[in-house]
Amino acid sequence: MRISDRIDEIRAIIRRARSTGSSIGLVPTMGALHEGHLSLVRKARHAGDFVVISIFVNPTQFSAGEDLQRYPRQPHDDAALVEQVGGDLIFAPTVEEMYPNGFCTHIEVERLTDTLCGPMRPGHFRGVATVVAKLLNIVTPDHAYFGEKDYQQLIVIERMVRDLNMPVEVVSCPTVRESDGLAMSSRNRMLTREQRQAAPAIYRALQAGAAAVHRGATAPEAEQIMTELLQAQPHLRLQYAQAVHPYTLQEPTHAGPPMLLSVAAFAGDTRLIDNIVVFRE
Ligand code: PAJ
Repeated sequence: MRISDRIDEIRAIIRRARSTGSSIGLVPTMGALHEGHLSLVRKARHAGDFVVISIFVNPTQFSAGEDLQRYPRQPHDDAALVEQVGGDLIFAPTVEEMYPNGFCTHIEVERLTDTLCGPMRPGHFRGVATVVAKLLNIVTPDHAYFGEKDYQQLIVIERMVRDLNMPVEVVSCPTVRESDGLAMSSRNRMLTREQRQAAPAIYRALQAGAAAVHRGATAPEAEQIMTELLQAQPHLRLQYAQAVHPYTLQEPTHAGPPMLLSVAAFAGDTRLIDNIVVFRE
């Protein structure tokens, strides 16, 4: 396994891997790796890719006042984990390598970023789309792996790839959870004990909402069920509990499936998100 922080070095290594006939897989991350990330790496391995993991805490997707400084960084543990699961190459650039002086080009994915996390985190998806486009241009993967945990991000990236004719297949991967249902996240390690105990209520609320949707509930009904359950939690501060169409991310026109149920809540200063997509059975 190799590690590099240099774009030219990464390009040279990938050129060599491709010349031996390997397909290239990219798993973009911000590090502090956990089983959720590793499931993406395993999926890429399974597809037979030469697996590149990027680790970059991208400053442009954090708004002022968010947790950029506090975001966990553990490069040595990350390298050991990637080695264990058989990743081939880590790309861990500096901010200067990714955003040299004079940088001024950005990608804006419209409409899909007007809902859910978009209005709550101005500029966030513009930062995500831009950095992912750069990573795709640097690594030129055949496959790029993204988790359903960040469902809106997945949809935004799929749209960008289609709209800009990027020659890559986006592969979506199911959410990996702790045994009590809490979606794994690098931010979970910032939770106090009380917050950690309260956090699984998010998944329970999503499950209650999903059960109602299966019984034919409308979006406002599902939202009310989730909101009531989450507002009863003393250690969580609900930001939104929404039910939208899973492809347009707009208000559904029909009751029942398909529906995306999505929650964002703060535990102290730590923002947690999770979602369930309810399909027709
Ligand atoms: P990060 O939060 O580190 O997540 C990297 C990838 O791992 C994303 O595709 C995310 O959806 C996936 N992931 C995280 N937790 C997961 C879980 N519990 N189960 C399954 N997949 C999970 O998302 C980002 O970084 C950044 O926005 C990035 C795309 C790297 C751009 O900076």
